[in-house]
Amino acid sequence: MRVFVAGASGAIGTRLVPQLIERGHEVIGTFRSPGNADRVRALGAKPVALDVLDAHAVRSAVLDTRPDAIVHQATALANTRVLRNLDRAFAPTNRLRTEGTDALLAAAREAGVRRFVAQSFASYRYAREGGPVKTEDDPLDPAPPAVARQTNAAMRYLDETVTGAGGIALRYGGFYAASDDGLAGPVRKRQFPVVGHGDGVSSFIHLDDAAAATVLALEHGGAGIYNIVDDEPAPMREWLPVLAQALGAKPPRHVPLWLGRLIAGGAMTMMAESRGASNAKAKRELGWTLRYPTWRQGFVAAYAPGARSAGREPRPARRAGHSPT
Ligand SMILES: NC(=O)c1ccc[n+]([C@@H]2O[C@H](COP(=O)([O-])OP(=O)(O)OC[C@H]3O[C@@H](n4cnc5c(N)ncnc54)[C@H](OP(=O)(O)O)[C@@H]3O)[C@@H](O)[C@H]2O)c1
Repeated sequence: MRVFVAGASGAIGTRLVPQLIERGHEVIGTFRSPGNADRVRALGAKPVALDVLDAHAVRSAVLDTRPDAIVHQATALANTRVLRNLDRAFAPTNRLRTEGTDALLAAAREAGVRRFVAQSFASYRYAREGGPVKTEDDPLDPAPPAVARQTNAAMRYLDETVTGAGGIALRYGGFYAASDDGLAGPVRKRQFPVVGHGDGVSSFIHLDDAAAATVLALEHGGAGIYNIVDDEPAPMREWLPVLAQALGAKPPRHVPLWLGRLIAGGAMTMMAESRGASNAKAKRELGWTLRYPTWRQGFVAAYAPGARSAGREPRPARRAGHSPT
């Protein structure tokens, strides 16, 4: 297939492009920041400068390149921390998830593009009640904290618009293994504490595994939503000390929930009560196998001294065992 990857220069894009090429696909890779053309070219894709928020430019780029498939991985989360006002931090990304998705879908329709896959998110989105692990069919949080309402609405919009158009929304877990991982810095500096009893459950995914699932979804996934997360959704009190250790940091501090709320506001409530996600559907329907089935091994592979994979320049993936079924 000729695949148009919007956001090829990003955290997942740089892992995805080599895997697509390895599978025999031709890739057109878009970038936004001047200077990233060489990076995209070095990955093996044809670089195209594109602002996904410019609908005219999107239309031209798609009509010019005539892809068989589009993958929307454009986000703008660089330098984003878990901030008091999540919606403010995510505002540019929310536009990419709404207006950007609309522009790409309109262009896809006009150009007769058959397949469309877009980046969505799993953690902190499912209803904060009931069991700790949720499937794609479980309800989303009906009342996210005020600071995260626009962000949740943008992700819901993307999920509904993409699947409504016959495409696939991939609800990834928290990405790790990028050189600019938002979590690593604060954890190294002991600025990311276990809050309360550390009950909030998170789902993670190594970027290489996220890219492999994306290739499979593109090749033969049915329209709909897939959680792309690892096998071990886990409470903060379990994963945070393991991450700190992998990073060579001191163990995380513990703070009571009231203090966490004082520091991080409503976003902390969301983290403290969050549920994880199940990857059963993605494994069953995509034939996906994970190289890093849990963050326990993934964090070490990504961050331990001498680790080859991440926190450093992305390397081309050499995966076996993810051929189409
Ligand atoms: N699920 C998750 O947990 C999750 C999701 C996304 C990101 N992150 C993390 O957040 C960190 C930074 O993420 P990021 O989103 O800033 O960067 P990123 O993942 O490195 O890049 C996102 C991609 O979108 C492109 N882009 C940005 N604005 C665009 C626009 N208006 N039009 C077209 N393309 C545009 C970027 O292009 P240029 O690079 O050329 O500017 C880049 O190719 C990474 O560590 C990543 O792991 C986590």
